[in-house]
Amino acid sequence: MSYPEHLRNLVEEHLTGLRFAREPAAAGLEEAMRYSLLAGGKRIRPVLALATAAAIGRAPRSVLPLAAALELIHTYSLIHDDLPAMDDDDLRRGRPTCHVRYGEDVAILAGDALYAEAFRLVLHEQEAEPAALIAAVAELAAATGADGMVGGQYIDVQGDVADLRRMHELKTGRLIGAAVECVLLVAGTRDPSPTLIAFRAFAAELGVLFQIVDDILDVTGTDADLGKPQGSDERHGKRTYVSSHGLDGARELAAESHRNALTALHRATGGAMGTELEQITDFIAHRTS
Ligand code: IPE
Ligand code: IPE
Ligand code: MG
Ligand code: MG
Ligand code: MG
Repeated sequence: MSYPEHLRNLVEEHLTGLRFAREPAAAGLEEAMRYSLLAGGKRIRPVLALATAAAIGRAPRSVLPLAAALELIHTYSLIHDDLPAMDDDDLRRGRPTCHVRYGEDVAILAGDALYAEAFRLVLHEQEAEPAALIAAVAELAAATGADGMVGGQYIDVQGDVADLRRMHELKTGRLIGAAVECVLLVAGTRDPSPTLIAFRAFAAELGVLFQIVDDILDVTGTDADLGKPQGSDERHGKRTYVSSHGLDGARELAAESHRNALTALHRATGGAMGTELEQITDFIAHRTS
């Protein structure tokens, strides 16, 4: 299983070059944003965006602003997810969480600013036809709003999880889906089109696979491998794939979801084998961190 490291390096380099606050008095805010952003996550969402560009014959570099925006949004969601009022975790990406290092007030603001800066980045830096850019930005907003990631987080914290798959589709799946879909939209693909529908089916399954594996790793992983506290879900009585299906059941579901994702991918790419998207799919299924 090989992860497309060349794409990850492109992302890392781009993220490192980003600056946010020009206002000197807000330098501490920027420090907190960069502290969490540059702590070395797996970069799955931006790498997925770059790999999608490659799959449709575009230069991966051409979608770097969009890819970076996805990682800014993801990082914001992690900062807020770790807050005492949410999952109350003190380790993230191998470092003390943002609120442990900078205080809850600054961590909340760092998350808020990362979200806004993500949209600024796409709107200012992403090259695309205006209509295509608007479609992509609209999808990014929808995927992260009340019917997307934040809606999923609400279902999670509120604790009454009637439909586990639906919660996962929203909480994790929509942003992962946006990593694929926004690239197609930026490239001018119309919604609906057979291409968009096929890639969307792949991305939706990939998002669910990602979160099933996240739930399994919360039980089987180590703090060191995960860079976040193992056992967080159980401590908080979270309903997860493991709590509802058992470890073996969750592993079977992950294997089934992995097969479904590969089938959907091959349908979307006309059967192309060994693509970077396939590598990422295998990585998400077998990852240990
Ligand atoms: C963790 O995401 C949070 C979830 C959405 C389950 P990742 O596992 O992608 O975290 P990083 O970016 O590698 O730290
Ligand atoms: C978090 O899910 C999902 C988002 C941040 C949107 P989790 O709470 O399972 O993520 P981890 O396990 O803390 O990374
Ligand atoms: Mg959570
Ligand atoms: Mg959490
Ligand atoms: Mg988790």
